Parts: sequence; C-alpha cells; structure tokens
Amino acid sequence: MKPYRCQICGETYLGEREPDRCPFCGAAGKHLLPAVEYYDFGKIEMSEGTYEDCKKAVDLELDNAAFYKACAAEAETKITQAIFKRLNKQEMEHAELICKAMGIEEPGLPDIKCPETDEEKFKEAHYREHRAIKFYLDIVARAPEQRIKDIFKALAEIESEHLKMSNIYR
Ligand SMILES: [Fe+2]
Ligand SMILES: [Fe+2]
Repeated sequence: MKPYRCQICGETYLGEREPDRCPFCGAAGKHLLPAVEYYDFGKIEMSEGTYEDCKKAVDLELDNAAFYKACAAEAETKITQAIFKRLNKQEMEHAELICKAMGIEEPGLPDIKCPETDEEKFKEAHYREHRAIKFYLDIVARAPEQRIKDIFKALAEIESEHLKMSNIYR
C-alpha cells in the first residue's frame, strides 16, 4: 500500500493506486499525488476581494453541509441516506479546506431544515449545487491567485458531480 495525498484537500489516502476520486473531498483522481510529491500551500496570501469570496464560499459550504446532514437524518431510504451522508462529508471537507487557505478557524454548522420527501430534498440539492457551481466559476474567473483558481475549479467540478447525483435520483 502506498500513501497518496490530495492536492486539493490535503487528506491522505492509502492504497495500491490512486483512487478515481478523493474519498474525502471528492476531487478527481488527477489531484491525488504520491505523498512525497504533495505540496502544502498552507495559508494563502490573498487579495481582499478573494478573502471576501472565500468567506462567502465557507458560508455556502457549511449551509449545504448542514442541509445534507438534515437530509441524511430524515432520508426515506438507506440508499438516499448514504448519498446525503456522503454529500455532507464532502461539503464539510470543502469548508475545512477553504478555512485552511484563509488561515481561519472553521465556524460551526448553521441550523438548517430540509423538506419532507426525498424527491423534494433532491430538488433543493439541485438548486444548492447549481448556486455553488456558478459562484465558484465566478471566483475562478476573477481571482488573481493561481492556487485559489485551482481550488475553486476543482470544487466546481465536484459540485457538478453532486448536481448529476441530484438529477439521477429524480
Ligand atoms: Fe481531497
Ligand atoms: Fe462543496
């Protein structure tokens, strides 16, 4: 077994080869590097505009994480529960990695309610993922920092996977 590290979230995965996706943040396999090649960007020097964007992105991730947590608690089947649980974990990981880049403590989860039926839950998930993708692509376009562009490009790709997931289960 070899250690691989995700160049987006920094988590370490142990396996014979790199996985399809990061099991922690959901980033595509291309972001998983042999652990020795991993570079820790730590706290990133960022412009005021990017800092504000990151603050909003953390709020958005925590809001979505809390939503999926509520969905998992009230899911109608074991399968939808597993999907919401996974989505919750990935959004938590996203909030954490953005906070790390900003050099701030992670705020707590807000109190969010979810709709009753799974169908309605996925409908809201679709809206939430769409909003995240749009915002992240805006950040990719306007951020002057290359590392920030790389992070939000990867996050937009992951949220696109989430969007697909929300469509499949209609
Ligand atoms: Fe990751
Ligand atoms: Fe996310």
